[in-house]
Amino acid sequence: MALNSPWRAEFPGIRALEADGQTYLDSAATAQKPQAVLDALLAYLAGGVANVHRAQHLPGERATRAFEATRSQAAQWLNALSSDEIIFTRGSTESLNLLAYGLEHLLPPGAQIVVSAAEHHANLLPWQQLAKRRGLELVILPLDQAGSIDLNEAARLIGPATCLLAITQLSNVLGRWQPVDALLALAKTQGALTVIDGAQGAVHARPDVQALGCDFYVCSAHKLYGPDGVGLLYGRSEALAKLQHWQFGGEMVLDADYQDARFRAAPLGFEAGTPAVSAVIGLGAALDWLSRLDQTAAAHEAALHAALLAGLQARPGVQVLGEPQLALACFHVEGVHNADLAHLLSEQGIAVRTGHHCAMPLIKRLGLAGATRVSLGLYNDGADLQRFFAALDNALELLR
Ligand SMILES: Cc1ncc(COP(=O)(O)O)c(C=O)c1O
Repeated sequence: MALNSPWRAEFPGIRALEADGQTYLDSAATAQKPQAVLDALLAYLAGGVANVHRAQHLPGERATRAFEATRSQAAQWLNALSSDEIIFTRGSTESLNLLAYGLEHLLPPGAQIVVSAAEHHANLLPWQQLAKRRGLELVILPLDQAGSIDLNEAARLIGPATCLLAITQLSNVLGRWQPVDALLALAKTQGALTVIDGAQGAVHARPDVQALGCDFYVCSAHKLYGPDGVGLLYGRSEALAKLQHWQFGGEMVLDADYQDARFRAAPLGFEAGTPAVSAVIGLGAALDWLSRLDQTAAAHEAALHAALLAGLQARPGVQVLGEPQLALACFHVEGVHNADLAHLLSEQGIAVRTGHHCAMPLIKRLGLAGATRVSLGLYNDGADLQRFFAALDNALELLR
């Protein structure tokens, strides 16, 4: 299992973890950062920081230029029509909460919000709570055996009362591309708003929001080899114009009096307070880094994933959840509690994730208390998988 990674050497975090005896296989939770991102962060932080959009002085102008350059880059990377369609948030979770508040006034009582059974809590709970606040119906699209949203059921469930569809592009538990195009077509026939959770999908295929034709798309920098604390909310300009403001404070205001105020349009109207300037600049470096990747990246990910699946499937009693297509695999082992397995893997320096993966309703629907997830980054190689499988075999020998 050679599967060398040409990118591994660019990740000091991987070297540091290796020196600590740790094999990192939890990139779907958060990814290590390439040197280029660390350099960009240090250059900004050590080069004299300043707040953005507020100051007339040189450092302020420089920081604002770098900050806004990332917005243009993000627009280009997502193939948005304009950088005004890009709002910086703290991450996918905040983007989705922003939408659930910002769109609330458009959803009449009795309307339906449609999500899938595969959603991460970040794309379930904001809509669930909105439904509870407004007396709406939350409709859950079921999955097929492989872990894809069932399109026949979707065609039956998405109807005239559907006002909003919010679905994941790639499940963080099942590792499958969802049939987003077909689902968006069904929703659009009903005139519903469409939201795509790209937190996992954006990492493995560059999104094209115009080709997708969605109203909103969200993702998080920290999963894209960038800094934590910043995420993107793309909104088609006509859809953004419908959003109600949700957080209030500095810089999002056009004019304020003691008793009333008027607010800016997107994007600045939705970026109240001092943003994560350094993280946004670091995200710019991450997008640069991602833009330089070629076909070899997808081929490396595919080869690693195939080796991961083959290794899991070869072990008796190991049951992979659904039929993952890329990036990750979740599994449970008959007769073994996932917490015991997690403990023994962790003792052997294997950093994988165990539990409900912030998708508790899905794990419950699968009849499990939890599952173990191995997820891959571009820096992982065949030796990482070998260490994982050796540790898994040791653990299972002890536990069974
Ligand atoms: C599919 C999916 N959606 C949303 C999120 C939330 O992302 P964040 O924690 O960066 O806000 C995650 C994080 O794991 C995810 O996997």
